[in-house]
Amino acid sequence: MKNKSIKIAMIGLGTVGSGVWKILTQQRQLLEQRIGVPIEIKWVAVKSPRKKRPLAIPKTCMVSQINSIFLDPEIQIVVELMGGVTEAKEHVLQALKHQKHVVTANKALIAECGSELFHAAREAKRDLCFEAAVGGGIPVLRALREGLAGNHLNSIYAIINGTSNFILTEMFQQQMDFSVALKKAQSLGFAEADPSFDIQGIDAAQKLAILIAMAYGVEIPAQNIHTEGIESVSLLDLQYAQRFGYQVKLLAIAKSQQGKIQARVHPTMIPENSMLAAVQAENNAVLFDGDFVGETLLYGKGAGSEPTASAVVGDIIEIARNIKAGVSEAVAPLGVNVESLRPARIEPMDMLKSEYYLRFQVTDRPGVLAKITQILSQLQISISSVYQHGHEAGGKVSVVVLTHLAKEKNLQKAIIKINQQSFVYAPTTLIRIED
Ligand code: HSE
Repeated sequence: MKNKSIKIAMIGLGTVGSGVWKILTQQRQLLEQRIGVPIEIKWVAVKSPRKKRPLAIPKTCMVSQINSIFLDPEIQIVVELMGGVTEAKEHVLQALKHQKHVVTANKALIAECGSELFHAAREAKRDLCFEAAVGGGIPVLRALREGLAGNHLNSIYAIINGTSNFILTEMFQQQMDFSVALKKAQSLGFAEADPSFDIQGIDAAQKLAILIAMAYGVEIPAQNIHTEGIESVSLLDLQYAQRFGYQVKLLAIAKSQQGKIQARVHPTMIPENSMLAAVQAENNAVLFDGDFVGETLLYGKGAGSEPTASAVVGDIIEIARNIKAGVSEAVAPLGVNVESLRPARIEPMDMLKSEYYLRFQVTDRPGVLAKITQILSQLQISISSVYQHGHEAGGKVSVVVLTHLAKEKNLQKAIIKINQQSFVYAPTTLIRIED
């Protein structure tokens, strides 16, 4: 007798949804061989079912009434690919309430409402998978939740916003200004509908919140993560970074120290010969440091229709295998019992100790450097290098200072004080260094 298919319903048929449709239809036989039963897309819920689409999807599959898919007893998996938070959350909760397993690619939804959804999944005894939410096509979450589950994570360093990485790469390689590189990223379709989420670091902070929740079994609102984007990084900073042997990347960083978690997203100078510095253009990479495994780097495409769809289909396969085996919740969404989740103890940013790159924009006149170094030394900030390019007397000039390890709290005080000096004509740029 032929194996009965597992029927799924998709909500949304945008960039990722189209990719999922393509994989499930083009790889039908391969997936059947891997799962043991065929996967069938029974419904695709869209706002306008009559709209012309490039994909040959039978009109009979299309529905506009999302409720009808929840009420269909044949549907076992609902795949949420509509984006946004409020409506998507309602649909995921409805799907779970109607005993459907859920796959979503929605990082904002998981970052903002994860805890509530995980509890709902637990109650419904259904799976909730969201691999595509972090790192697009790279199976980052599955690696963290399963392959690395025997490790305590000392640190996570991640390039998880492709748009920012693309912009920084273009700026550096083409010697372009930020605004020109941003336009290019938008024209190539990398940036989110609202690019501010990408360039202000919010997209990366949401993804980091998910990584931290999974790595440390905690609840952490993305708003509690110190977040800076790449808007204030200029071409000049990238050129100076190169002079000192660094590249600038937007890094999402988590470190676990004495029960507290450091969580931050900001432009960071990293050695130009490091693995993460080699991550160019829109690519993503996540570097885990586990206490037993050591450093493990995952690299690949962090966005785009097909890579993201690949992650969604990976989740569908996991759930389909569970259904076939007659189990659910074989692995909890975060890899830990949801009842054990506690609020994360985040180390205040003030407590950070780091090395810093500082670029002061000053009038070139006697005593300026002496005053800057005096303020820094009063706050126990020790200088490792000073660089000034050009020496047009009385003109405007950038003075670059690299520091030894210093306290963030003192650094911020020093910058406020220095920015108040009459010789400063534009706010100081600060970029943290991770060696
Ligand atoms: N806008 C995101 C990025 C892709 O640039 O990486 C979707 O998560």
